[in-house]
Amino acid sequence: MSSSASVSAASTLDSLSQPSELPSETQNQELENLKRHVAEGLRRPQKTLSSMYFYDDEGSRLFQQIMALPEYYPTRTEFQLFTRHQSALATALRPTATQEPFFLLELGAGDGLKTKILLRHLLETNATFTYVPVDISEAALEGLAASLGEELPELRVEPIVADYSEALRLMAARPGRKVVLFLGSNIGNFLPPDRLTFLRNLAAPLSPNDRLLIGFDLQKNPRTIRAAYDDAQGVTAAFNLNLLARLNRELGADFDLAHWQHYTDYDPLAGAVRSYLVSTRTQAVHISALNQSFQFAAWETIHTENSYKFTAPQIKALAAEAGLSVTEFFTDEQNYFADVVLRPA
Ligand SMILES: C[S@@+](CC[C@H](N)C(=O)[O-])C[C@H]1O[C@@H](n2cnc3c(N)ncnc32)[C@H](O)[C@@H]1O
Repeated sequence: MSSSASVSAASTLDSLSQPSELPSETQNQELENLKRHVAEGLRRPQKTLSSMYFYDDEGSRLFQQIMALPEYYPTRTEFQLFTRHQSALATALRPTATQEPFFLLELGAGDGLKTKILLRHLLETNATFTYVPVDISEAALEGLAASLGEELPELRVEPIVADYSEALRLMAARPGRKVVLFLGSNIGNFLPPDRLTFLRNLAAPLSPNDRLLIGFDLQKNPRTIRAAYDDAQGVTAAFNLNLLARLNRELGADFDLAHWQHYTDYDPLAGAVRSYLVSTRTQAVHISALNQSFQFAAWETIHTENSYKFTAPQIKALAAEAGLSVTEFFTDEQNYFADVVLRPA
């Protein structure tokens, strides 16, 4: 892997390759963010924790398993879309046929499984670019960087461990042509107002030749959608419950996982999957790092994830509201998923 030291505002993976080398300031900040988030979320009338905290090392490992589940169609479908349309995708992302170098920035890159198809194609067609995968999960980025080093050693990579907002600040500060990828329907995890704000912030620093590629999970048979978030093997349940195990590990909480359940449902009216952790009895949980206990009634829920599904007209309307226009709309034969290329309007 060739890695540059030019990333300024967040931690590059090189500087974070050993957990013990994490700058203590960054570690402390992350812990403070988690503490604040949990304290606020568990004080609400409807208790809430963000899906962004699913992805500690164990969560990232479980998500790898989810992506391989028979019920979990999004990864498989987007992978097929990328395989089939790689050439058209690459063309749509590079509107000026020049060899102008560009940054290929990916938000929430995960294991980069699908992105590698595009990366390989771009390298084969002699594009000059630097791949900048951004992820909040250090484990996910370490895995990605290691696999890229083996599979595509000629690729220039600058991994950044950061959250989306930090990545957007970095992107805005960086001169040069940019292509931004936001795959896997991560966009579906935002509530509608936050989604629009996020897209507007993403669009604002883009120049006319910059491009965005966003993966949207499409509305389909509600049972197909629900099954993807409630698999028969219980891996998604383990993924959701790991959030409580993470709070036990990192904040000294005493959640007894034997008395919590994963529950999920798809609401076709809202086009949203909502996932919860359900307290199966009256219980109190102490969180040492907050020096506080929280009461849970029997069958009370903690809301942990939204996963919105879209229609093509909704996607076009959303793009327009965010100051973007759709240049290409790739979808699969079943109309399960869409990868949409956007440009500043
Ligand atoms: C559903 S996975 C998708 C991974 C990959 N994009 C794909 O399509 O397979 C979400 C990824 O986004 C990362 N992520 C979630 N919330 C994030 C945030 N707020 N900032 C940065 N990364 C985030 C997670 O660590 C995880 O790797």
